[in-house]
Amino acid sequence: TNKIIPQEKGIDHTLKLLKEGYLFIPNRVKAYQSSIFETRLLGKKVICISGKHAAKLFYNEELFQRKGALPKRIQKTLFGVNAIQTMDDERHRHRRLFFLDLLNEAGQKRLVSITKIKWQMALRRWQATDEIVLLDEVKYILCEAVCEWAGVPLGQSEVKRRADDFYAMVNAIGAVGPKYWQGKRARTRTEACIKGLIEEVRTGKRHIVPHLALYQAATYKDLEGNVLDVQMAAIELINLLRPIIAISIFITFTALALYEHEDSKEKLGQGDERDLEMFVQEVRRYYPFAPFLGAIVRKNFIWRGCKFKKGTLVLIDIYGTNHNEDIWNAPYVFRPERFKDQGAHVFDFIPQGGGNLVTGHRCPGEGITIELMKVSLDFLIHKMKFDIPKQDLSYSLTNIPSSPRSGLIIRNIQPKY
Ligand code: HEM
Repeated sequence: TNKIIPQEKGIDHTLKLLKEGYLFIPNRVKAYQSSIFETRLLGKKVICISGKHAAKLFYNEELFQRKGALPKRIQKTLFGVNAIQTMDDERHRHRRLFFLDLLNEAGQKRLVSITKIKWQMALRRWQATDEIVLLDEVKYILCEAVCEWAGVPLGQSEVKRRADDFYAMVNAIGAVGPKYWQGKRARTRTEACIKGLIEEVRTGKRHIVPHLALYQAATYKDLEGNVLDVQMAAIELINLLRPIIAISIFITFTALALYEHEDSKEKLGQGDERDLEMFVQEVRRYYPFAPFLGAIVRKNFIWRGCKFKKGTLVLIDIYGTNHNEDIWNAPYVFRPERFKDQGAHVFDFIPQGGGNLVTGHRCPGEGITIELMKVSLDFLIHKMKFDIPKQDLSYSLTNIPSSPRSGLIIRNIQPKY
């Protein structure tokens, strides 16, 4: 028997999506009492699904493809046109190796140690100032660290501009108007710069150690054995660099979580690395970042009695799945201890996507994100003292991406010995 999917009435609900942001899918899941419903966005029928079983369905590559799922305006700002996010099957798996190889254990370790040094240097700088905006400063720390790690030259005077450009691409995702155009201009500038560097490596004008990301991007070969065209090589290198700068958002939320849960500071102070990890996992679950993801139905099928027709856009609810009551006890309470049992979290915990790390689309940067959050949390707890003045620490659940409104101002920064 075929079940009818609950349908939102009306011609188009794109404006509601812009207004409701992270809560667009969860609000309707609640209203319809259904983890699946149908709506209309950007003039098209869209099926939205939420929860662990929905995530498992979404990552079935026989039933879903990524080609055609991402609006062009998002490709032109956030991801780059026709990049890894839009690929399927063997070509996709091959492209993924570029990311997985560079982000292997050795690669992660090297980036963590460079980042530690940048944190130490920043801490020294901050002592000479009254106050800093943590979100901005962490952007600069991560930008300096990842460029050095990748072999991408970056003069001291360029750090702020380069970091702000990477951030503007991320910030453009849910945007119409000025934020969109800022993101687009930032992408044009950054692609031009990275393309120039890749050409220098290819023509032998720039000498660089082979294991570095810039060299790998310049020489990476597609399935047919040809190097990527220079634009695509630049886009994928940017897909490696930009999201590292975006971790500044999670790190700022980590500092906010410490502030909002004074008692956890003491617990973490006495705890070990496992406690740090549980804390950052809970930050990735609790605070908003990626709202949802899209894929296209590859062939007609029926799921739980509901018909999915070839060509339909399906959105999986990330924010709602991370706050789903069937998965999480008291989901709107911040409680790191819930991560005591180390599950594999293939489909139930999906802040950076779900499914298989090697063959699927799950974020290849998840491991390094966790490690860089841990390093930063360690600094915030063990290596520095600071005050948090009165400010607007609220964050929006409708602006995508969200972050604390003040950027988190900290004052009277001193090292802890
Ligand atoms: C994919 C989130 C950090 C590189 C994704 C996806 C999400 C995500 C939701 C989509 C998964 C899917 O399509 O099924 C995040 C968040 C981050 C983060 C919230 C925190 C800042 C990183 C980092 C890197 C990275 C640090 C690289 C250094 C990528 C790439 C993809 C991806 C290349 C595309 C994978 C594919 O389509 O095969 N990320 N990510 N991300 N992420 Fe991340």
